[in-house]
Amino acid sequence: MPRQRVGVFISGRGSNLRALIDACADPAYPAEIVAVVSDRAEAAGLALAEAAGIPGVVIRHRSRPAFAAEAEALLRERRVDLVCLAGFMRVLDAAFVEAWHDRMVNIHPSLLPAFPGLHPQRQALAAGVRFSGCTVHFVRPEVDAGPIIAQAVVPTRPDDDEARLSARILGVEHRLYPLAVRLVAEGRVRVAGGKVEIDGWWAPRVAVLNPDEPAGEPLAANRG
Ligand code: GRF
Repeated sequence: MPRQRVGVFISGRGSNLRALIDACADPAYPAEIVAVVSDRAEAAGLALAEAAGIPGVVIRHRSRPAFAAEAEALLRERRVDLVCLAGFMRVLDAAFVEAWHDRMVNIHPSLLPAFPGLHPQRQALAAGVRFSGCTVHFVRPEVDAGPIIAQAVVPTRPDDDEARLSARILGVEHRLYPLAVRLVAEGRVRVAGGKVEIDGWWAPRVAVLNPDEPAGEPLAANRG
């Protein structure tokens, strides 16, 4: 099966782009990155793309339709099959999103549908949740919404602040995004009734508690 041709949209640092570049360096990985698009010329991720020999293109965001038209032309020219949003900070034109229905994915640093939008790690800490994490989902016109492909759970800790929690989630994002893109590129992922079904994959068996049980002692033994 030919490798799926991926276009990655970024706005900044590009560490998820780097994780995808690293995954694609394996010839057995079912996708290759053929385009990197940034709405900001100063995005650090553009240098990562260049270092990997991938042509990066800056498309300035004058308006949603204008950005969409330029992006669409580039994606066609590079024969892109799948678009990956990786820290892309603009809301995309709804018609463009519809044109890439089930062919465009995003990573968001929370367990969606909790905490969409800006500063999800800060939102998670403010809500006092014991777990947050990250989500890869198909993109829909509503921000940070769409059928969920994969999620990873990251426990919050009593001494967390936004920076610490963000860093721990980001480390897991770099594992989750390449996995999710692999599953999509292998053709295992389909959307039915607004939900994702994945062929030949399974969920972990274990449950994780936070706070954790004392080692070797069931929680019930500590009561009373
Ligand atoms: C990541 O946390 C991603 O989930 C969110 O924006 C951040 C981008 O980081 N959408 P990077 O540019 O990939 O380093």
